[in-house]
Amino acid sequence: MTSEYRHIPVLSTECLDVLAIEEGTVHLDATLGFAGHAVLAARQLGSSGLLLGIDQDAVAREEATERLYGLPEASRPAIKVLAGNFGDMDELLLSVPVPGIHTVLFDLGVSSVQLDTPSRGFSYKEGAPLDMRMDPGTQTLTAQEVINTYNAADLARIIRTNSDERWASRIADFIVRQREEGPITTSDQLVEVIKAAIPAAGRRSGGHPAKRTFQALRIHVNSELDVLRQGLDAAIRWLEPGGRIAVISYHSLEDRIVKETFASFTDRCTCPPDLPVCACGREPILELGTRKPIVPTAAEVERNPRARSAKLRWAFKR
Ligand SMILES: C[S@@+](CC[C@H](N)C(=O)[O-])C[C@H]1O[C@@H](n2cnc3c(N)ncnc32)[C@H](O)[C@@H]1O
Ligand SMILES: [Zn+2]
Repeated sequence: MTSEYRHIPVLSTECLDVLAIEEGTVHLDATLGFAGHAVLAARQLGSSGLLLGIDQDAVAREEATERLYGLPEASRPAIKVLAGNFGDMDELLLSVPVPGIHTVLFDLGVSSVQLDTPSRGFSYKEGAPLDMRMDPGTQTLTAQEVINTYNAADLARIIRTNSDERWASRIADFIVRQREEGPITTSDQLVEVIKAAIPAAGRRSGGHPAKRTFQALRIHVNSELDVLRQGLDAAIRWLEPGGRIAVISYHSLEDRIVKETFASFTDRCTCPPDLPVCACGREPILELGTRKPIVPTAAEVERNPRARSAKLRWAFKR
């Protein structure tokens, strides 16, 4: 497989450590991708286990299926690859069906293979159509439609709230002005507009000038933050008592949602703070594995630059 080197699973040792997958249990990989993590999980599950994998990307599912069924038959778990969005987890799991889940992993975002396929339009590095749909088969809204039809105020809001781009309003104004001359249809065109909008002094820090706007568009097109809340919520409900959840995120907005969702399940008391004792009786559902996120070692980042911004949070169900 030519793309092997491009999907080294991120924080794999750490994930296996914190999930502590036991033989004969049910493991859900909510972002199967190219099965980098799932292959490792499968080895721990053994032939009496069940491996469930969700991905909304057809190419990823195909390659993951091939890799998983390439494992020796005698020792591999039962395997179910589910097509869909982890935001629809209830529906997907009810279709199997499964009684409950012992461990679950989310490894968020797009895979390096998706990022490196120009036609998907995720990258600001190559001339490509402005698409960015994670599941072109079911989604209709593309980045191109957002860029060419949303008004300046909506564009500015989307860019600002889905990235920490301080020039969001200027970028939105420049987009609206540019498209008066004709639609903006390719990533290079958009990169040029963004570069023109960000004053030279503001361009010196923070990496590629288009990085944040592209991230914001991707998050918007795929409703990534809402879907993440729904997916985490569902996964925690499906977990068996003692079950474990691990989530790898790649930017601060995702990490904040993971942190806040975990926190909302670890502290369930809704009593007013001035009440001397708890009267609501709502018990914590989760216990945090570690308070601080686990980050990759310098050696891993060296080997796999994609791991650079990764943060792993985990918790177990009480
Ligand atoms: C970073 S990759 C996962 C890589 C995988 N852990 C591996 O080691 O091969 C993320 C994958 O999750 C999928 N994905 C992202 N958001 C999703 C969602 N909301 N529902 C289903 N799949 C999603 C993407 O299509 C992509 O294949
Ligand atoms: Zn209370």
